[in-house]
Amino acid sequence: MGSNEDGAAPSSTTTPLSTQPPANFDWQITLASKVIAITGANRGIGLGIAEVCLANNAKMVYSLDLMDPSEDFAALHKKYPNFKYIQMDVTNEASVQKAIDSIVEAEGRIDGLVANAGMTKHQPALDFTRAEVEKRFNLNVFGAFFCAQTFAKKCIALGTRASIVFTASMTSYRPNRAAPSAPSAPYGGTKAAVRNMTHTLAMEWAAHGIRVNSISPGFVKTAMTYYVERAPDWDLKMQYYGGMPRLAMPQELGGAYVYLLSDTAGYTTGIDIPIAGIVGAW
Ligand SMILES: NC(=O)c1ccc[n+]([C@@H]2O[C@H](COP(=O)([O-])OP(=O)(O)OC[C@H]3O[C@@H](n4cnc5c(N)ncnc54)[C@H](O)[C@@H]3O)[C@@H](O)[C@H]2O)c1
Repeated sequence: MGSNEDGAAPSSTTTPLSTQPPANFDWQITLASKVIAITGANRGIGLGIAEVCLANNAKMVYSLDLMDPSEDFAALHKKYPNFKYIQMDVTNEASVQKAIDSIVEAEGRIDGLVANAGMTKHQPALDFTRAEVEKRFNLNVFGAFFCAQTFAKKCIALGTRASIVFTASMTSYRPNRAAPSAPSAPYGGTKAAVRNMTHTLAMEWAAHGIRVNSISPGFVKTAMTYYVERAPDWDLKMQYYGGMPRLAMPQELGGAYVYLLSDTAGYTTGIDIPIAGIVGAW
């Protein structure tokens, strides 16, 4: 609450963009004709989301990533030549702006953003330095926010109805007891911030026809969770925790992203979808 830092009133909105489905709306869940940008899709969850978007007829999917494309990226690009990569640093606003601009220049449109790039650090809270905490917040929170803001400004300028999906985490709700070897209080804090801002952005940007939602994965098999199954007591814990005694494949999250990115989710905004197979939920 309160006034802006500079004392100015919040900027006024333009004419609201209708969120009503048109009379001839096709109710099939599809991304046909959609141009989607996914941050951090050169590997892991982002790559899995890209695959499911492409399997559901996305016109173009762009991975906006810092690192060079992986072999897995190349394999998916071979199957879907409409899967492309632009080098981009989520923590650098100029780089984000350039990437979004170049997509619109090439495609004439942009319809969806998955703000997915993020990182953790597995170590006890007592060992974190300020620099280590700042690095996580800079990528997971500030990066996600400025990607969303840059994308939203572009969509407003183009008059496009659009969808933003953040990758939050089950750690945004509570620490996971099935992987106590992975404490990361700052990481959980970043993901709680992401899930929280989803709700406010959804309220603010509905008038512009932009929906904002998040997805909270539990355990997903990626480079980030290499250690989970290696814990000596993993199999034993899986016997007792209930739910699905395994990590998710990245692609198993994809359907939820496709739904939220699609026009069929036209009235869905400001929600989080937890996808955790129960075992990743607590
Ligand atoms: N793996 C899990 O179990 C899990 C669970 C819940 C949430 N998440 C979240 O899912 C997202 C993806 O995680 P993942 O497991 O696929 O991780 P990952 O490390 O396999 O992939 C992350 C990708 O982000 C890219 N990236 C990192 N910094 C970047 C930057 N500054 N600019 C652009 N790209 C950058 C990396 O190059 C990489 O391709 C993260 O936000 C993570 O917090 C993961």
